[in-house]
Amino acid sequence: MPANWQALRKECCLWQEPSERTEHGGGPKAGGKPGGTMDVMDAIYGRRSVRGYADQPVDKATVEGLIKAATYAPSSMNEQPWAFVVIQDPKRLAAFSDRIKAYVLKRLKPDSPLVKYRDMLANPDYHVFHRARTLIIICARPNTHNGEEDCSLAAQNLMLAAHAMGLGTCPIGFARPWLAQARIKRSLSIPDDYIPVFPVVVGYPSGETPPVERRPPEILLWE
Ligand SMILES: Cc1cc2nc3c(=O)[nH]c(=O)nc-3n(C[C@H](O)[C@H](O)[C@H](O)COP(=O)(O)O)c2cc1C
Repeated sequence: MPANWQALRKECCLWQEPSERTEHGGGPKAGGKPGGTMDVMDAIYGRRSVRGYADQPVDKATVEGLIKAATYAPSSMNEQPWAFVVIQDPKRLAAFSDRIKAYVLKRLKPDSPLVKYRDMLANPDYHVFHRARTLIIICARPNTHNGEEDCSLAAQNLMLAAHAMGLGTCPIGFARPWLAQARIKRSLSIPDDYIPVFPVVVGYPSGETPPVERRPPEILLWE
């Protein structure tokens, strides 16, 4: 661990010079603070799954910063079992969205909890990736102890870091079964024995996302 975490943050591109900041780049509208800093409790309570994005790309340095933040998640036995795929071509994302909708609809069983999304998935205007300009797929390397859990922790780091930078994110579970197919993995340079665990979109929010109510925690034992 570097002695100076602020130096690390700068190195991993979370820092943006004032001249590099975009309209949404950490400004008050987006909730993030300049330079991508935010109190951790504000980040935890303020992050939302964003489903409306501006047609604005996310630059390479920003994506690299998010991936670096992801890799600072804890991992079982420090295996750091994650690997990343980044897709930013809007045409490709739109084509994937159509293919994912068709894939999920074709396999929808009457008793599936996803049945309530049938009409939404059948809507040609529904975009599985919410028209975000970046998709990051966090994949688990094979033969790890808790690869999928570790990748989910990495995803949460990435989403909190993005929120602190004024970016929106949304996990895209709908994409997971489609991404797990061997030929799709191959087309995305994902080795056969890697598992695409956590697809998450990143982009600049086009508006506010209202908070989602939380149920009180179920405490099973407190001795
Ligand atoms: C594993 C996982 C898969 C998810 N898949 C989707 C998805 O495919 N599409 C979507 O819009 N939201 C998806 N979500 C987002 C949840 O709907 C969201 O986290 C939940 O409603 C709580 O809202 P919040 O994230 O704003 O707190 C997913 C969340 C998780 C953790």
